Amino acid sequence: MALLLRILKRLGFIILALLVLYAVGRPTQIWLDGFYSGVREPYLQMMSSNAVTLRWQSENKFVGVVRYGITPGQLDKIQRETVSGEEHEIRLTDLKPATKYFYSVGDENKESFKGQNFWFKTAPEIKADSDNHVRFWVTGDQGYANIIQEQVRDSMLSWIKKNPRSSLDLSPIDFWLTTGDNAYRSGSNDQFQAGFFEPYKSILRNTPVWPIYGNHDARRWVFFDIFTFPTKAESGGVASASEHYYSFDYANIHFVILDTEGSDLDVDGKMLSWLKKDLKETKQQWLIAFSHHPPYTKGSHNSDNKRDSRGRLFTVRENILPLLEEAGVDLVFSGHSHMYERSELINCHYDVSSTFANSMIREQSKDNKYKKKENNISANSGTIYTVIGSSSKVDNGPLDHPAMPHSLQEAGSMIFDVKQKQLKAYFINKSGQIKDQFEIMKGVEGGVESRSCF
Ligand SMILES: [Fe+2]
Repeated sequence: MALLLRILKRLGFIILALLVLYAVGRPTQIWLDGFYSGVREPYLQMMSSNAVTLRWQSENKFVGVVRYGITPGQLDKIQRETVSGEEHEIRLTDLKPATKYFYSVGDENKESFKGQNFWFKTAPEIKADSDNHVRFWVTGDQGYANIIQEQVRDSMLSWIKKNPRSSLDLSPIDFWLTTGDNAYRSGSNDQFQAGFFEPYKSILRNTPVWPIYGNHDARRWVFFDIFTFPTKAESGGVASASEHYYSFDYANIHFVILDTEGSDLDVDGKMLSWLKKDLKETKQQWLIAFSHHPPYTKGSHNSDNKRDSRGRLFTVRENILPLLEEAGVDLVFSGHSHMYERSELINCHYDVSSTFANSMIREQSKDNKYKKKENNISANSGTIYTVIGSSSKVDNGPLDHPAMPHSLQEAGSMIFDVKQKQLKAYFINKSGQIKDQFEIMKGVEGGVESRSCF
C-alpha cells in the first residue's frame, strides 16, 4: 500500500512538472515565433500613385537607407530611417504616377540589395474612366513552403511571359493579392520566411503585395508586424483606422479587404459600419471584395455546416454579402477551402445551398462571357464568387455547391486583366494550363440590370 502511495505521489509530481513546463514553454514558444533573425529581401507595401513603403530585414542593426531614381545607374534620391534596427521600413512619397523607379536598400555606407532587378512601378491615377490595362495576380492558402507552391508560382510567371499585356508595359504584373493563410501552419515568423518571403522574393522586390489575414495567420501575432496596411486611406478609399480591414483603389478598381477571422462580423460592428461608409463613397468602375472565409464552398470546408470555422462562413454570407451586393460588388474572392470554385453571375443567395434557386442566377453564360448594363458599379447587378485556396495544397471535397458549378480539384492561381469596361480572369493550374476563364463586360445594352432581392 505504502509503495502504491509513493508511486502515485511520484506520478503526481511528474504530471505537475509537465503541466508547469507546458504552461511556461507554450507562451515562450509562441513568443519566440515572433522573431526571425536573418536576411529578408525587400518587399513593397501600400502602393499608391505617389507613394510606396519598402520593407526588409537585415542580420545586424543599422539605420536603413533607400536610394532611388528613374534609372538604375542614377539613384539620386535618398530616404533614411530615424532609428537603428534589424527590421526596416521606409515610405517613399512625392513619386510620380505610373512611373518605374529603381532602388537600393542598405545603410549609410553599403547598398545590400541593388541593381536593375530592384525596381517598382507606382500606381496610375485613381479614376473611374482610367484607360490603364491593369493586371494582378491572386493566390490563396499558398504558404505551405512546398513544391506545389513553386510550380503554381512558375506556371503563372511563364504564362504572363507568353501573354504580356503589351511590349510597352513597365511591369509584368501590377500587384498581388492573397486570399489568406499565407504561412502554414501557425503563421510564425520563420514560417513566413520559408513559405512566403523566400519562395516569392524575386516577385516581391517588384510587385506590391496585399496579403489577406487568414485563420492560420492568426495563430501567431506576427502578421500585422510583418506587413504594413493602410489605416488612413493611404492608397484610396475611406480610412478604416484598422490594419485588419481597409480598402484601396488602383486605376478604375476599388478593392475591399475584410478580416473575417479576427474582426467582429456583426452588421453594426466596427468593420461592417466602416464597410457601409466605404461602399457608399466609391465611384469606381469595378468593385472587388476579399474575405478569407468563403460564403459558398463544398471543398475542404462546408459552407452549410454552421460549426465549420466557428460559423464564420455562415456569418460572411448572412451579414456581409447583402451589403456587398447592394453596393454592386462585381467579384468576391475567398480562400480557406483548398480548391478552386466559381459561380455564375448571381445574387441574393444568403442561406444554405439547398435554398439556391435558378432565379438567383442573373446570367448563365455558355462561353463564360457575362454582360452588365451599366458602365460603373451598379447595385445588385450580379456577382461572381471565386474560392481560390489551392495555391500550395489541394484537399478533398465533393465540389457540388449548386452556386459554384465551375469547380476544380486543381492547384493553381489566377491572373486578372482589367481594361476599362472589360475584366478577364484566368485560372492557371500548376502545369501552366488555363483550366477556367471568364469575362465580364460592362456598358452592354441588354446586359444584367440592377434588381433588388426583395
Ligand atoms: Fe483558412
